[in-house]
Amino acid sequence: MPAETTSDLTRLTLRRPDDWHLHLRDGAMLRGVVDSTARHFARAIIMPNLVPPVVTAQDANAYKKRILDALPAGRRFEPLMTLYLTEGTQAEDVAAAHDSGLAKAVKLYPAGATTNSQSGVRDLEKVTGVLERMAEIGMPLCVHGEVTDPAIDIFDREAVFIETVLDPLRRRLPELRIVMEHVTTRNGVDYVRGAQRNLAATLTVHHLIINRNAILAGGIRPHYYCLPVAKREEHRLALRAAAVSGDPRFFLGTDSAPHVDPLKECACGCAGCFTAANAMGCLAHVFEQEGALDRLEAFVSLNGPAFYGLPANEETITLVRRETPTRFPAKLETGDGPVTLFDPMFPIHWDVVEE
Ligand code: DOR
Ligand code: ZN
Repeated sequence: MPAETTSDLTRLTLRRPDDWHLHLRDGAMLRGVVDSTARHFARAIIMPNLVPPVVTAQDANAYKKRILDALPAGRRFEPLMTLYLTEGTQAEDVAAAHDSGLAKAVKLYPAGATTNSQSGVRDLEKVTGVLERMAEIGMPLCVHGEVTDPAIDIFDREAVFIETVLDPLRRRLPELRIVMEHVTTRNGVDYVRGAQRNLAATLTVHHLIINRNAILAGGIRPHYYCLPVAKREEHRLALRAAAVSGDPRFFLGTDSAPHVDPLKECACGCAGCFTAANAMGCLAHVFEQEGALDRLEAFVSLNGPAFYGLPANEETITLVRRETPTRFPAKLETGDGPVTLFDPMFPIHWDVVEE
């Protein structure tokens, strides 16, 4: 369905969007954040990096129930579960979780790459059997695309991953469907564009808006620190061009990753930007700036389901552009403590109209 835009571009009706990469956590944090996503998004790919991680179909089933239980009464939201790939993961268990419709993807974290990735993969050889089975059954692999070698500069870790891990893996298993998660570089965008098939990428809201200066220039700002870390401006521009291009291989995965403030504002702060609550307003702003509001629907509502082989949502949401910017609370109070909402550093005029 084409986006319906009025001539003054103040109202936009889209198929209901989905978030193809989301952290909801568990317990009090889950209960505190889940509706920030569920209010606007119909479905989300749920990251499995809990402690302990969501490894088996049984773990995913139990976590899915906890997510559904945390929703406010009457809210419709479908968590699309993923399994955390470990060197002990069983191909049979993965295939069964896929066949039953429970798990939509498997997540590859190189061990040590990011939050709760200790149980991830050190040696890809050890998971070859699982990856081969996934290639056979058409189950996507979501990849955190960074090498963990401390000798590699943190700003180069995505580019080096593409060359030394992703490209060899794709040559070896060309039938494996891969999503490069939260691409942050021109190298990533170019690599996806150059692929004939079976490769897509998610883009976050924050990487379309900030470059590395936001984290480091004029003082250290921990709420802009995430992984992969934001890169130079030229990379941000490449990500924006990809997002607004309409190319079906690029779609939204917010990587909204809540951490309570004390864990962000400290000597060794956690990585993650919490963007769930204002993601749609920020994106409408970005697409408007790029003169591409008519392609927002492809990015948030059409390209993702097409890659995952799921139908696009039939329901719609409406965004309105108001003269007076929307005032979002700076923090969301959760049972675990306050979580600071991503500040895009511009006034957000676009807002989702509550139905
Ligand atoms: O910034 C991030 N936060 N990047 C990740 O890869 C993980 C996430 C988290 O779980 O906090
Ligand atoms: Zn993530």
